[in-house]
This record gives sequence, structure tokens and C-alpha cells, in this order.
Amino acid sequence: MLNLAVLVLATVFIGALAQFPSDCDRTYSVQAGDTCNSISENHDVSSFQLAFVNTVINADCSNLFIGQLLCLGRNGQDCTIVHTVGDGESCVEIANNAGTPLNVLLENNQNVNATCSNLIVGEVLCTEMTLIPYHSS
Ligand SMILES: *[C@@H]1O[C@H](CO)[C@@H](O)[C@H](O)[C@H]1NC(C)=O
Repeated sequence: MLNLAVLVLATVFIGALAQFPSDCDRTYSVQAGDTCNSISENHDVSSFQLAFVNTVINADCSNLFIGQLLCLGRNGQDCTIVHTVGDGESCVEIANNAGTPLNVLLENNQNVNATCSNLIVGEVLCTEMTLIPYHSS
């Protein structure tokens, strides 16, 4: 019984490690009370990047656990200039304020759709002026 528990724990641990990027530049250990938005806002990581890099996080970000190791940014594809979406803000406004072309804003935040009609207040957008070369492997 003990051996089985050890095996299950080891499998879970190895599974988590296998999904952790080897070229991670910024790591973060989840604290009590964290949400994806709070992690993004407090550590300058876009909502898209946090989800894209950490495929273990589910769609509504309800499976975080205390002590969980997350990667906030991978080497060469880490956007650190960000903006938290406020009430009533539009992509055009956010892009203009950041001095970023709208198409770059949309490319760097692949969770935002082409008409920018799915912005969510409190989500964090990458507002770098250049394209971040996101790739998954
Ligand atoms: C953008 O997202 C909104 C809200 O989910 C949706 O109603 C709209 O059809 C989407 N537009 C495009 C171009 O995907």
C-alpha cells in the first residue's frame, strides 16, 4: 500500500516536471489566495503567456495549488511589459497608450480575438512593441 502511494506520488511529480519548460527564465511558487489574474498582475506576465507556458493550468484557472511551481516566462519568449485591462478599455486605447501597433497587441495576446470583443477586466495584456516569438516546444 505504501509502495503504491509512493509510486502514485512519483508519477504525479515526474508528470509535473515533464511539463515544466527547461528554458524557463522566471519561476513562481503559488501562494495561498493567488489567482491567475493576481499572479499575472503582480509578476508582470500576460494572461496569455501564463496559460500558454503552463499548460497544466485549466481554462478557468481553478486548479492552482499552494506550492505549485509555475514558469512565468521562457527564455527568448518572455513579455515583461504588460497592462491590466481596466473597465471600459478597448484594444485600440490600450495599444495607443502603450505605443504598440494594434496588430502586434493582438499577436502577442492570442487569447484576445480579432475584434477585441472578448477583453476581460482584470486580465493582463502584453504591451511590448515587438512580436514575442511564442512557440510551444
Ligand atoms: C470575440 O469574442 C466575443 C466574446 O466571446 C464573441 O462574441 C465574438 O464573436 C468574437 N469575435 C471574433 C471575431 O472571434
